[in-house]
Formats: sequence, C-alpha cells, structure tokens
Amino acid sequence: MASYYSSWLTPSTASTLCLLLFLLFAGMSCAQLSSNFYSRSCPTALSLIKSAVTSAVSKEARMGASLLRLHFHDCFVNGCDASVLLDDTANFTGEKTAGPNNNSLRGFEVIDTIKSQVESACPGVVSCADILTVAARDSVVALGGPNWNVLLGRRDSTTASLNAANTNLPAPTLSLSGLVSAFSNKGFSTNEMVALSGSHTIGQARCTVFRSRIYNEANINSSFATALKAKCPSSGGDNNLSPLDTTSPTSFDNAYFKNLQLQKGLLHSDQQLFNGGSTDSQVNTYSSNSATFFTDFVNAIVKMGNLSPLTGTSGQIRTNCRKTN
Ligand code: HEM
Ligand SMILES: *[C@@H]1O[C@H](CO)[C@@H](O)[C@H](O)[C@H]1NC(C)=O
Ligand SMILES: *[C@@H]1O[C@H](CO)[C@@H](O)[C@H](O)[C@H]1NC(C)=O
Ligand SMILES: *[C@@H]1O[C@H](CO)[C@@H](O)[C@H](O)[C@H]1NC(C)=O
Repeated sequence: MASYYSSWLTPSTASTLCLLLFLLFAGMSCAQLSSNFYSRSCPTALSLIKSAVTSAVSKEARMGASLLRLHFHDCFVNGCDASVLLDDTANFTGEKTAGPNNNSLRGFEVIDTIKSQVESACPGVVSCADILTVAARDSVVALGGPNWNVLLGRRDSTTASLNAANTNLPAPTLSLSGLVSAFSNKGFSTNEMVALSGSHTIGQARCTVFRSRIYNEANINSSFATALKAKCPSSGGDNNLSPLDTTSPTSFDNAYFKNLQLQKGLLHSDQQLFNGGSTDSQVNTYSSNSATFFTDFVNAIVKMGNLSPLTGTSGQIRTNCRKTN
C-alpha cells in the first residue's frame, strides 16, 4: 500500500485534476476507467483472478460460460456495478430471482472465492464489478476465445433492481426486432447485438427456455429437433440441459454462427439472427471468418463493460460481493 502513495498521481489527485478539467470544459466526463487502475494498489489482482478462473474452468468448462453471462446480466441492469451479485435478505430484494436469473445464473461461489483471495491480498481495494469483468474476459480466453485489455475502476452498487432485471434483459422469445430494440435501449447497434450473441458459442440452456421452439417451430433442423426432444420432453424435465452450440459447447469459436446457417440455433432468439432477415449476412460473415467475429466481439464486450460504471467516490468497494458494506 505504501508504494501506492509514492506516486504523485494518486486516484484522489487524478479525480481532483479531472474535476478541474470538468469545470473548465463543461460536459467532459470524469468517469474514466483505465487498464492500470490497480497496478499500484493491488498489483496481484489480475493474476489472482486469472488463476482462479482458469482453475474453475478446468474443473468444469461450463463455468466459463456462466461467468461470462453473469457479467452480461450485471451490465445490462443499471450498468456494470455488481448489482447482480447481491443476495436477497429479509429487508432487501436483489436481482437473483428475476425471471432471466432465477434457477439460471451460476458462478457466484467462484466470484466469492476470487473476492476472498483478492481481499486477503489488498483489503478494500478491488471492486466486485471489476472482478466480474475480468473473470468474464479470463473465461473467454480459457475456452479458446480472443483476449483483450480490460478497463478497470468500476465500483460496487449499494442497490439492485429486480424490476430492471425483469425488463432490460432480453428474453429468448424475442423476435429479431425485439432483440434489436433490447440492445438499442442499451446503446448497441444491430451488428454489436449479433456479435455479442456469439457468446452462445459456449454454455447450456434449460429445456424450459427452448421447449416451445423444438416442438412448435418450423425454422429448425429436423434431425436437431428430434435429438433435442429426447432430452427435453413436451412436459417435465424443465431443468434438463442442452448446449447452446451443439457442435463445440466448450470452445469459444464461431461454430454458433455455422449452426445458425443449418437451422440449429437452440433458442428461438438465436435462430432469429438467421431467418431470412437483415442479420443473415453478418451470420454468414462470422461463419466463414472467425477473426472478424473475434474482433467485433471484443469491441462490443469492452463497450458492454463500460455501461454506466460507478467511479470516483460513487458506490463502494464491497468486502463481500453478496452484500453491501
Ligand atoms: C441476444 C439476446 C440474448 C438472449 C435472448 C439470451 C438468452 C439466454 C438464455 C435463455 C440462456 C439459457 C439460460 C438457462 O436456460 O438457464 C442463455 C445462456 C447464456 N447466455 Fe445468453 N442471451 C442473450 C445474449 C447473451 C449475451 C450478450 C451474452 C454474453 C455477453 C450471453 C451469454 C450467455 C451464456 C454464456 C450462456 C450460457 C450460461 C451457462 O451455461 O451457465 N447471452 N442466454
Ligand atoms: C436489514 O436487516 C439486517 C438484519 O437482518 C440489519 O442488520 C440491517 O440494518 C437492515 N437494513 C435496513 C436498511 O433496514
Ligand atoms: C425462483 O425459483 C424457485 C425455485 O427454485 C421458486 O420457488 C420461486 O418461486 C422462484 N421465484 C420467482 C420470483 O419466480
Ligand atoms: C440439418 O442438419 C443436417 C446435418 O447436420 C445438415 O446436413 C442439413 O443441411 C441441415 N438442414 C438444413 C435445412 O439446414
């Protein structure tokens, strides 16, 4: 900690400077994230997170998918502020029981483990929101996807919104235009929505979210539908799992897009991206060029990580990611 203050550019100097510049140039934002945010205050933070994620993913590959999704469900609900991690209590209602989250989100124990290791190394310094953001990147890398630089300096909320979780997260029943507007509401273009949807190249979904597609829809590959029906009966088995990417569910690659071309999207919303509409051409591009998918995915996920972070003196650094200090 001592060496932290040996630099003249402490966070408080930096925010004072920023405030000064803000007063001079009205409209400029002081809410800046930076990739070296913890380089003096907690130099081991990034390596501790990477080791813990790598170990969790090697124990169970799906955990990489679960951690990536946690970051998404955090950021789309009032910004990347770790609100998704807060537990319900007798006098507090968080986001964990929202429709898209209940019996679905996982990975909380991995975040707890990381948080306790990082707290031991640097008490009260590294936010849960940053841990989630870095863990999502490390998960993608652990499953063979692209690497990127994570911007840091987010702080943690003291609130959560069940209602925003229920309204801002896209449902698997959405049409293409519904998907476009759900992402547009958060500032994302249709192209960015398609790139981010490529996250479904990893992970699993429950029978309850794709049953109606496999029994009722026409734009589904018939051999694919038949195989799925064996694991997802028309009634019962709601929690039975199937991979979102039927060919390589534990590799972060472009197979998701190749599957869509064969009408093998698992969710109704997945197949909407390749159903004769305006996004077909982008699916074709990603399907034939994984480097283009990776580049677009990285740009879009960095942008997602920048959704309304709490910075400066807003919010807090939670000691325990599950509750406010
Ligand atoms: C485009 C709109 C999206 C919809 C409608 C959607 C919906 C869903 C649904 C219904 C599931 C299965 C949940 C369950 O059955 O428990 C799921 C899983 C998943 N989603 Fe999405 N999602 C979308 C976008 C995204 C984005 C943008 C990301 C990441 C940036 C993402 C990452 C994931 C991952 C990794 C899984 C698998 C999680 C696991 O195995 O634990 N999704 N999604
Ligand atoms: C909520 O309840 C806990 C005990 O369960 C208590 O410590 C806390 O102060 C309460 N918070 C509020 C805002 O009432
Ligand atoms: C969440 O899931 C549990 C079952 O695990 C269920 O009892 C509860 O009613 C669900 N909550 C909501 C709000 O749907
Ligand atoms: C359905 O899947 C099979 C086997 O992968 C594939 O050969 C066929 O082209 C697919 N059908 C359609 C309509 O895409």
